[in-house]
Amino acid sequence: NWSMADFIDMQVAKIREKVGDRKVLLGLSGGVDSSVVGVLLHKAIGDQLTSIFVDHGLLRKGEAEQVMESLGGKFGLNIIKVDAKERFMDKLAGVSDPEQKRKIIGNEFIRVFDDEATKLKGIDFLAQGTLYTDVIESGTDTAQTIKSHHNVGGLPEDMQFELIEPLNTLFKDEVRELGEKLGMPHELVWRQPFPGPGLGIRVIGEITEEKLQIVRDSDLILREEIAKHGLDKEIWQYFTVLPGIRSVGVMGDGRTYDYTVGIRAVTSIDGMTADFAKIPWDVLQEISVRIVNEVAHVNRVVYDITSKPPATIEWE
Ligand code: XMP
Repeated sequence: NWSMADFIDMQVAKIREKVGDRKVLLGLSGGVDSSVVGVLLHKAIGDQLTSIFVDHGLLRKGEAEQVMESLGGKFGLNIIKVDAKERFMDKLAGVSDPEQKRKIIGNEFIRVFDDEATKLKGIDFLAQGTLYTDVIESGTDTAQTIKSHHNVGGLPEDMQFELIEPLNTLFKDEVRELGEKLGMPHELVWRQPFPGPGLGIRVIGEITEEKLQIVRDSDLILREEIAKHGLDKEIWQYFTVLPGIRSVGVMGDGRTYDYTVGIRAVTSIDGMTADFAKIPWDVLQEISVRIVNEVAHVNRVVYDITSKPPATIEWE
């Protein structure tokens, strides 16, 4: 009778035996999988684990701080935080094609990680949050292409590490259960999916700091209101997007010409198909009022009422 507690004991023993007194590197993304790997490895080998957290400047508001406080603070992981915002903004300047943005963000991510990793000496292992589903899906070529879009990228070629993948027999819900068992915060373990390219694909077209700010601020308001109304369990994924169009509005005696924010919220099982979430009108109204009042340069809020297919969940 297999239990999560047994799994933890088994993995801890296995990791200790494999690693011995050597060192392990982990790339933390702030997501569930790499965070759980981090906490599990830290339990097994403590400071023999070094984690690198690349802040690409495309995270949601408060996310980087949360990773540092929770994993670095409470759980005591040794985390190197790399502030790479400028590097990413430079590379993304003038780029508006979604797939090209994805490629740039993915490549730059590996480069920044690589740069940091080469500064560290004497690392033998690289830990990854590979799940059982990733293992299965990587079996065929088509799945490989689908997944490359979802950042199961390869390692830089000249990196010579042995891999440690302690989650590769688990499904997502088991990883969450494991996280809970390890004492990780509920919000982290149950957080909604967040794409690797982050807010970079939620600012439609060219990314600017001003536009990122609007998405970050409006997204936080949406998250607060969804949580406040207890809708975070039933809605699978929810976020705001900035289509980049501006329209006319009126404020006081004046006419405004400002941005439109789109709200996307869907129910889904696995993200392959989705329905737009039937958020009550009065909740939508509250969200809309808060966004136009609290976020500078926004004078209109729209709700995306398309399902997937034919629309995708993200707008890019
Ligand atoms: P779509 O927009 O394709 O999204 O309906 C389905 C799910 O995948 C996420 N998504 C991504 N995740 N890198 C990721 O890691 C990406 O480039 C990417 N694009 C979409 C999306 O957030 C949703 O959960």
